[in-house]
Amino acid sequence: MTGTLTKPHTEQEFLASWPEYEATRPLDDLRHREYSRLDRLGQVYLDYTGAGLCAASQVREHLSLLESHVFGNPHSHNPTSAPITELIEHCRHAVLAYFHASEDEYLVIFTANASQALKLVGEAYPFGAGSHYLLTFDNHNSVNGIREFARSRQATITYVPLSLPDMRVDEATLEGYLQQLRPGGGSLFAYPAQSNFSGVQHPLNWIPKAKALGWDVLLDAAAFVPTNRLDLAQWHPDFVSISFYKMFGYPTGVGCLLARREALAKLQRPWFAGGTITVASIQGDRYFLAEGASAFEDGTPDFLGIPGVEIGLRHLEAAGLDMVHARCRCLTAWLIHELLSLQHSNGSPLVRLYGPPNSRQRGATVTLNLYDSSGKIIDHLRVEEAATRRRISLRTGCFCNPGGGETALHLSKSELVGCFSQHQPPGSRFTVDDFRQCIDSKGTGAVRVSLGIASNFDDVACFVDFVREFLG
Ligand SMILES: Cc1ncc(COP(=O)(O)O)c(C=O)c1O
Repeated sequence: MTGTLTKPHTEQEFLASWPEYEATRPLDDLRHREYSRLDRLGQVYLDYTGAGLCAASQVREHLSLLESHVFGNPHSHNPTSAPITELIEHCRHAVLAYFHASEDEYLVIFTANASQALKLVGEAYPFGAGSHYLLTFDNHNSVNGIREFARSRQATITYVPLSLPDMRVDEATLEGYLQQLRPGGGSLFAYPAQSNFSGVQHPLNWIPKAKALGWDVLLDAAAFVPTNRLDLAQWHPDFVSISFYKMFGYPTGVGCLLARREALAKLQRPWFAGGTITVASIQGDRYFLAEGASAFEDGTPDFLGIPGVEIGLRHLEAAGLDMVHARCRCLTAWLIHELLSLQHSNGSPLVRLYGPPNSRQRGATVTLNLYDSSGKIIDHLRVEEAATRRRISLRTGCFCNPGGGETALHLSKSELVGCFSQHQPPGSRFTVDDFRQCIDSKGTGAVRVSLGIASNFDDVACFVDFVREFLG
């Protein structure tokens, strides 16, 4: 157990502040049944935004499926191909049903991960002179990377800044940008339903607002869906990116792009590949794309992994996503409260939090830096090393979200441009160490902890006790 570091009286205090946690007790049984390896191996897992954990029964059920069938490549009709094709199609329907997405409106395109789903949109979106790529500072690099497709086709690229200290977007500012849509060219607005940097949940009602003004909307839901419901019968984003391993840990090589059929029809694939065409000819020098999802699934999919997605979705439903959500909310609120109460003997705060200091409209991702009593930042790598000695898995750096990092750490445009200009020409190497040297005394990263399906009070209390050790 992780309990060696916890204080029993603290859990009572926690329960007094968060009585609704009691209703989530079935998740303690679930942890005991399905995730007992955590306690057996003494691991304190606090990186659910990095990857979810799989339940033991998911792996057993998947193994039993593989052991009791012979599955061949699905791109065929032979006796080992047909049953796996059927399972893949079944899984497609299960994904649609899970997100309440109507089959008339949405398609599921299986990908390797969320990044590949995002790239499918970026490389095929009809950017051009006169079109626009609008995105929030707060985005994963796989959303930021789409700007290079937009740039190469002369689209205008605009970043919407974040406001401190909450790291949210100012609604009026966003509305101003959304109003600037020029009629004619296709224009894409991209944002994360939940920040993988700060845990902020950006409003889903931006979707209808942006669509009403003529934008196509790309919602990166990778960090949101592991502990929140995304209802596509209520919200109708044009594109949604997901990695299934973040939702339920296994399989690790499958994600998807949920795309509205209407929006998908606007995409122009830049190439063809095995599985994406009906006919391609060498001498005729033509190819004809397949219909629907097939046109976007390049090559052989992870056909043995995909049935594991349906098993994972069933597991999440059975565990009770709403209960997971409620538990994570209580634990996150308590964690933030405890961290912010830690002070050095001279009264200076130990913890600087990046993001909302409460549990309103935020997820279970908490990002911070530690400061010594003189107000000097404690290097995040030092924190990570100390955590590793305690078998605490947390994350440090900027989590592939440079806009979040630059905002949180007050790195200005001129500082960054100055740093990068020392490394001409474009394409020259620039290491993280170069960056650290250039930024000098400012922090270049932060410490992130995140909660999920198997999190319990001991995990969180263990982290608070660990942080407390940096006092004095
Ligand atoms: C918000 C968000 N979007 C996209 C991704 C990319 O996911 P993947 O690395 O599985 O492609 C991540 C991964 O951490 C993420 O947190």
